[in-house]
Amino acid sequence: MQEIRVELTKNPKQKPAPGAPLPFGTIFTDHMFIMNYDEGQGWHDPRIVPYGPIEMDPSAMCLHYGQSVFEGMKAYRAQDGRILLFRPDKNMARLNVSNDRLCIPPIDEELAKAAIEKLVSVEKDWVPSEEGTSLYIRPFIIGVDPHIGVHPAHHLLFMVICCPVGAYYPEGLDPVKIYVETNYVRAVRGGMGFTKTAGNYAASLKAQDEAEKQDYTQVLWLDGVERKYIEEVGTMNVFFVIDDEVVTPALQGSILSGITRMSCIEMLKSWGMKVSERRLSIQEVADAAAEGRLKEAFGTGTAAVISPIGHLKWGDDIMEINNGEIGPLSQKLYDTLTGIQWGKIKDEFGWTVEV
Ligand code: COI
Repeated sequence: MQEIRVELTKNPKQKPAPGAPLPFGTIFTDHMFIMNYDEGQGWHDPRIVPYGPIEMDPSAMCLHYGQSVFEGMKAYRAQDGRILLFRPDKNMARLNVSNDRLCIPPIDEELAKAAIEKLVSVEKDWVPSEEGTSLYIRPFIIGVDPHIGVHPAHHLLFMVICCPVGAYYPEGLDPVKIYVETNYVRAVRGGMGFTKTAGNYAASLKAQDEAEKQDYTQVLWLDGVERKYIEEVGTMNVFFVIDDEVVTPALQGSILSGITRMSCIEMLKSWGMKVSERRLSIQEVADAAAEGRLKEAFGTGTAAVISPIGHLKWGDDIMEINNGEIGPLSQKLYDTLTGIQWGKIKDEFGWTVEV
């Protein structure tokens, strides 16, 4: 494995005071990881350097054609001081899935994991310890050839930056309000919906902006062809509890394969629950709500964790779910998942990796 060089900052920043607010994605740590790809040389020169702006040509391809992929993961400080990562192997494997779709040369997953562990250990004093906080880790890759022309880049950067964060949604664990998007679509099968690429988020901005203006947290996307089947929510996968079945949309090429989604499915199965990954129409959810069979709904994601949905609007149909309160299953999933992540309960699944 290539050696990761470390250059420490001479000007460390002031860290947020214990208990100070940590608005998501706004405070960045002292260092970042960077590695170059140049055709002929492959990925090379992995290094941890002081955090700061990078220079790029205004014609850099990522700025024009969106050849960029990213990941989202977290480091958690356990009560005994240990710092834990959650399933980093899954993030690196998914990064390579995104890379493949966007013609980005694959990264060495072992090197990438080692780089993240080293960066987090350099930044260990930035990992917050208050309840509900963590160090959000954002690996990303961009094509930087100075070239106006649509083709895969020959020169790229793989970088990792970190920020101490609190809850992604201001609601925290209080249920969010979502409406079903019937005008715009996010992705179609054959497109890039299953990848974590900037373009998917660009496609969601307009709907997200309109939702916020109407006092909704996010939108629930339907499939882009029939506009019938549930896909995902802006920054999360989604689950519905209908009678005694926990249903989440099957991954069919247009939905992101969330690591929190995967972990929830594994936890639910280990508790003997009936979990189905299948097509689920919005009509089926509305019917279940009307008949009192829709027990809970929640979103899952690294940033969002487990986020109960208390209010779902589809046209004129307003569904108040579990009286707008967090349901017992959402609470159990939240407690178990965060218990494992923060090292409060035994990690029976072997998901955490100590840095
Ligand atoms: C994550 O959950 O890690 C994400 O990337 C969502 C993001 C838009 C904050």
